Amino acid sequence: MPKVISPANSKGGVAKTTSSVNLGHELACCGKKVLIIDGDSQRSATKNLGIEPRPGQATIYAVITEPSLGIKRAVVAYTGTPRYPVQYPPGGRLDVIPGAKQITEAPTAFDKSRDRQPVPTFNHVLPYIIEHFCGEYDYVIIDPSPSQDRVNAAIIYAADAIIAPVAAEPMAMDGVQELLESLLEMNAARDGLRLAGQTKLAGLLIAKVYPDQMKLVASLQQALDGAHIAHFGPTYIPYTTAGWESTGERVPIAIYAPDDAAAQAYRIVTQAL
Ligand SMILES: Nc1ncnc2c1ncn2[C@@H]1O[C@H](COP(=O)(O)OP(=O)(O)O)[C@@H](O)[C@H]1O
Ligand SMILES: [Mg+2]
Repeated sequence: MPKVISPANSKGGVAKTTSSVNLGHELACCGKKVLIIDGDSQRSATKNLGIEPRPGQATIYAVITEPSLGIKRAVVAYTGTPRYPVQYPPGGRLDVIPGAKQITEAPTAFDKSRDRQPVPTFNHVLPYIIEHFCGEYDYVIIDPSPSQDRVNAAIIYAADAIIAPVAAEPMAMDGVQELLESLLEMNAARDGLRLAGQTKLAGLLIAKVYPDQMKLVASLQQALDGAHIAHFGPTYIPYTTAGWESTGERVPIAIYAPDDAAAQAYRIVTQAL
């Protein structure tokens, strides 16, 4: 079974999508087979990878509302752009299930659907799909939206581990505590929801760090160590020009600027995974 990872933080703009795309890319560069599932109605992961679904192309919406039909009709193999073609080493692959604006309606559509069998509840859809149709992948990365809705709850329940991108800001530890509490509550609710497993915290990832925030990074890392909260040690993701320019070019940072500091930091986090 693949390892299922999702970046989680109910705030927007903290680098969830950037982390999904760049970690997915780095894993594929290490020869892993990776599937990115775009779980955000804004379709950021799909757009950041320059994927234009063909007319009639199935998206995540079809996959989760008609789960027994599988994922083949929705999967797109990532090959970069004409300007920046991407090739992975033998064994490596990055596939994407494109996002859909209507994903927010998927839970209600699922509840009403007659094609949802044999999946008992919406929270079981992603685990069902992963178990039955994702056996060839080493990693499945699910990119969530910033909201706290049924779709995002289902994503967290499907994840073996979450990575929590956080900004280096004075109140960061408050947000971290909230995140950990909600993870605890969700794991505690699993039995009642008949959901197996647990969602672990792979680590807090301090991201989008400006050069003048180094003191904040150091004190946040110290606070995390003191509270025994998993994080990626001394590694943080710097805010770099290539970091945002690569988004405009629709490619992972390392394709746009291989030596960029943010690209290198994502490489180190990938090794830690
Ligand atoms: N390391 C970085 N350097 C520069 N820009 C970044 C970096 N990480 C993220 N960004 C930019 O910040 C914005 C928000 O990031 P994104 O990953 O979309 O956040 P989220 O998915 O949490 O809403 C995007 O425009 C992205 O290009
Ligand atoms: Mg996003």
